[in-house]
Parts: sequence; C-alpha cells; structure tokens
Amino acid sequence: MNFKPIVITALAVFSLLNVRAQKKIITVNPSQITAQVQPEMWGVFFEDINMGADGGIYAELIKNRSFEFAAPLMGWTTQGTQLKEGDLLILNRQEKDVNNPRFLRVKSTAVNKGDLSITNEGFKGIGVKKGLSYDFSVFYRQTSPGVKLHAELIDSTGKVLGSGVLNPEGSDNQWKRQSVSFIANETVEKASFNLWFEGTGQIDLDMISLFPGDTWKHRKGGLRGDMVQMLADMRPGFIRFPGGCIVEGRDLSTRYQWKKTIGPVEDRKLIINRWNTEFKHRPAPDYYQTFGLGFYEYFQLSEDIGAEPLPILNCGMACQFNTAELVPLDELEPYIQDALDLIEFANGNITTPFGKIRADMGHPAPFHLKMMGIGNENWGPQYLERLALFTKALKSRYPEIKLVNSSGTDPNGERFDLLNTSLRKMKADIIDEHYYRSPEWFLKNANRYDNYDKNGSKVFAGEYAAQSVGIALPTNRNAWQCGMAEAAFMTGLERNADVVHMASYAPLFAQIDGWQWTPDMIWVDNLKVYGTPNYYVQKLYSLNKGTDVVSILEDGKLIEGQDSIYASAVIERKTNELIVKVINTSSSPVTRDIKVDGKKLASKGKLTLMQNANLNAVNSFSNAINLSPKEQTLAVKNNGVALSLQPYSFNIVRIPMK
Ligand code: AHR
Repeated sequence: MNFKPIVITALAVFSLLNVRAQKKIITVNPSQITAQVQPEMWGVFFEDINMGADGGIYAELIKNRSFEFAAPLMGWTTQGTQLKEGDLLILNRQEKDVNNPRFLRVKSTAVNKGDLSITNEGFKGIGVKKGLSYDFSVFYRQTSPGVKLHAELIDSTGKVLGSGVLNPEGSDNQWKRQSVSFIANETVEKASFNLWFEGTGQIDLDMISLFPGDTWKHRKGGLRGDMVQMLADMRPGFIRFPGGCIVEGRDLSTRYQWKKTIGPVEDRKLIINRWNTEFKHRPAPDYYQTFGLGFYEYFQLSEDIGAEPLPILNCGMACQFNTAELVPLDELEPYIQDALDLIEFANGNITTPFGKIRADMGHPAPFHLKMMGIGNENWGPQYLERLALFTKALKSRYPEIKLVNSSGTDPNGERFDLLNTSLRKMKADIIDEHYYRSPEWFLKNANRYDNYDKNGSKVFAGEYAAQSVGIALPTNRNAWQCGMAEAAFMTGLERNADVVHMASYAPLFAQIDGWQWTPDMIWVDNLKVYGTPNYYVQKLYSLNKGTDVVSILEDGKLIEGQDSIYASAVIERKTNELIVKVINTSSSPVTRDIKVDGKKLASKGKLTLMQNANLNAVNSFSNAINLSPKEQTLAVKNNGVALSLQPYSFNIVRIPMK
C-alpha cells in the first residue's frame, strides 16, 4: 500500500538530482589571464629507438651499406653461378680511414648478368612504391673499367620491380661515386635489393645506397617524407634530440657524440645502437646508428618545421641503469667543450671553425639555438657535480642559452627530491621531469603543478606516456584510456604554463617489426605511417596552444577531476579566439554549460572531439583514424555553449571573440 508514494518520492529525488547535475556551469573569463603559454610549449622527443632513425625516418633503404656492422656481411647474401672462393672479400683500410675502414672487393668473371650478385634484405625488407623513383649510388674504385653494375629491386618471387645500370669509369684507383635512378613498377612492402656484376675485372665498392625519391623536401639522402609530415602536421614547438638514454650510451664509448655525426655521411663512424641488446625479449643484433640523421640534419629538420632545437648532451656519465661509468671531474673538459662547440656549430659566425663546417654543409645562416640539455636521466651527487662545471662554463660564455637539467628517471622519490631541491637552489633554468606511469597516475596528477613555485625554475615535462600495463612492458598498447588520461593531465600542464614551459610525449616513432619499447606515438611500416590516439591528443594541444591561459572554474574551483571532468582554457591573441579543453573521463555522458564572462563571443564556434566508448580502442594500419579528431559547429547562446560531453571524450571548444 505504501509502494506508490515511495516510488514517486524516489523519482522526485532522482529528477531533482538530475536537474541539479544538468545545471552545472563552467565559468570562463578570457579577461582574467593567469599565465602565458610559451611558443615552444608542445614539442616532440626524438630518439633512435624502435628503428626511429636507421630503418625509420632516415630514408636509406640499404642495411649495412658500408660493411661496418660487427659481421661485415650482415644484411647481405651472395649468389651466382660464377661465385668462387675469394671473389668477394672484405678489406680493411683502418690505417687510412678510421671512420669507414671496410669495403667490398669484387673479382668478377661474370659473363652475364645473373652470374654473380650480392643481395641486401633492407632493414625489415624494403618498401617499394609503384611509380616512385629510386636513387641508387655507390662509391667505387678500380684500375681498369670492365665490371658493369646492375642495381635492381625484386619481390619475394624474384620479380624485378625496377632496375638501373652503372658503367663505372676511370682507371686511376681513386674512390669515386656514381648514381642512377629508376622507377618502380609495383608496390611491395618487403622487397630486397640485388646488385649484379657483369664483366671481367676487379672493383672495390663502399656505401652501397638506395633512397626513395619522395624524401622530405626531395632532399637527396634525406628523411622519410611521410614521417616528417606527421611531425610537421603537429607544428611542434621544439624537437628534443637525440634522446633519451642514447645520449648516455650503455658505456661512455657508446655515448652520443655530435661531432661524429656531421660532415660527409661516408665519414660518419657508425656505432652499435644501445637498444640493440637492452631488452632480452627483443634482441636487435642488426641495430646500428649510422648517423645519416646527424646534428646538421636535426637542426635543418627543426628549422623546416618551425620547431626550436633542444639538443641533449652527455654530461660525463654513462647510463646509470647500465655501466654507470663516470668521467673523472678533472677530465670533463672535452665533454664541456663539445657543448660549447655545439653552440658554435649552430649559431657561430661562418668565420668560426664550427660555424664554417655548418656553412660548408650548406647552411651559412645560424640555426638560432636557444637551449640545451645537460644529461638525460642522470641522478645523484655525481650529476650535480658535473652539471655545476658545465653550467659555469656555458653560462660564462653563452648566458643567453637556457639550460635544461635532469631530475632523474622518476617524478618522485629520493633521487627526484635531491635533484629537485638542489637544482632549485642552484636556480636551474629548466628542470626535466619524466613520467612513464599508469593512466590513473596521470588522472591523479593533473594538479601536480598547481603548487609549484611560479617564480622558481621552470619545468620541462621532457618524457611522458601513460603505460597501459607497466613501464616499457611489451604488452603496453596505445589505447584510448592512455591518450585520454594524458589529455586530462595536460590540462594541468596548460593551466600551469607559467611553471611548465615545455612538454613532449616519448618515445616518438616505432617500426612495427623493429620496436623495442612500447607505447610509442607514431607507428610505421615500410610503406605507411599512422598516428596513435596519443599522437592526436598531442597534436590537438599543439594546434590549440593559444597564447595566454585564462580562468576556468566550476563552483569557484579548478576543474581537476570532480565528476571525472578536467578542463583548462586559453585565448589566442592573434586570432582573438577562446579555446576551452574539457575531458570527460567517466563512462557516462555529462552535460555542462560553459558561460563566458568578460568578453563577448561570436554567434558560433567549433567543437573538435575525440571519443570512444571503448577504453581499449587503438588505431592501426588498417584503421589508422579509428581514434582521431572530428569537428562540428557549435551554436553560442547567452554568451556560452551547452556541452554534452560524451563518455570518455576529449572536447576542444574554439570560439571567436568579438
Ligand atoms: O623513451 C624511452 C626511454 O625512456 C628513454 O631513452 C629514457 O630517457 C627513458 O628511460
């Protein structure tokens, strides 16, 4: 008998709550500026991990082109009816050429093409595109002409996909270079490369090279156009380079040394890549750093896409997870000199020694380097001692260059506390924080910087990524749960742009058959590239960076997870627009009215939305834009907008102001 009234009461309470929930208002005041956004705020982190450089963005298609890998013929096989013992020899001219000592000597008695050849498997096969031209080149020397070279791409059945012929000239036994281009007649993801010999004679070969014709800006020997385009599309504020642990090396002998990465590519001494053996479950014995993408190309790339270069240098410490070798303090001078010389290489007048090298390489104008990192993930008093010496030398010569200092590997704990406290006492310009953490950590830490000292050292969130399973585990996925958590966390970076001056997701690239570390922002195979949900989150922040952070509150409070909602707002002075980012991290739809005070809005704006009801959703080569931004028009009413925030959604509202 009492049943009916109870139901009515329950319903009444429910609808009252519902009305109250629907009435929640987010108040934005574009006239209340709380911080300025640095122009370089959202950048990218590049490291040669996961075949990011060799086999990746560096477009060379021939693996072990100069026979310098540990096994000189790694990546190569030999074949032919006329192949006899001693016909193919590896010679070493170490006394004359320490950087590129080995070359191949071919003694040919091949009557026909088909009698003797060498075949290269490429990095993970060779991607070939129908209609595209391929540039084959080789260094050779001979005492008399006689051996013709047939370069060809073939598929797995041996079908020729394109070929070119060289008739090496000269008999002076001096090294020369010849090249030929040819067009491919088919698209094949995993082709290989044959070099056939025809004729009788002896010829020495080195730097056997093949590049696709669609490199970035069509530069010969350049970078993979589609991979660079993905970066250019983000309009990143900076490029951190070359890492990452690769800066440190497993030991000091394999640390990154920028001076060995400039000048002619044939003189750049390759080294084994430190990620070659790092993970036992993913050995990569054929992973080397040829430095075809060296420091000149890095500066040029940064300039091309309008990003500030942010080089990170070794501070006299090898990776502390590996050998942890230290350079004695009284022997640190060459390391410091490397840092000073890099500034000269980037910015120096062409009359200076390193400025001249830059000019000779084709760039007389300076690259306008403004900042530099000393050390990657280094920690402990040993780091502080070495950093102090670097800082003194660099600041006395180049006070205008901002220095980025390491806070170690983790965003908390004893190591972090020691460095964070000490670096702030030392008045560090910028402190580099890294966090590879769970999606939950990112949600909980959206307020991390709210109480940081606004007048002290600035923060560079230099490496971060939500890990779906656990740090660097091979089962991690670039799932929407991670991208969404990063988007929510980034509201805190944006809100505190007076503390956080720069941020970059890490790592950047991964080759589908050649990765060591996951998750990664952009995945590639030999022909294609796709951005993960994390890529689109980064891109959206960068494209909607704005110039000034403005006040955004709900019930007078910052929006940092109440009802699973996160929000931040900026204005863009150039276009006079308001940009509001709102993330709904709950499984239910949520409504919010955005009310704008202090400025008049135009009658309509735009909503950019990333959403998926499945937190495990990912992008893939076959569904590359499964999770990607979609745009729609938004009507402005009463100087605000009514937002229906879909479950698990990242929403960007952009409205012109009057
Ligand atoms: O991004 C991958 C690695 O993670 C970096 O090389 C290192 O700095 C960090 O530990």
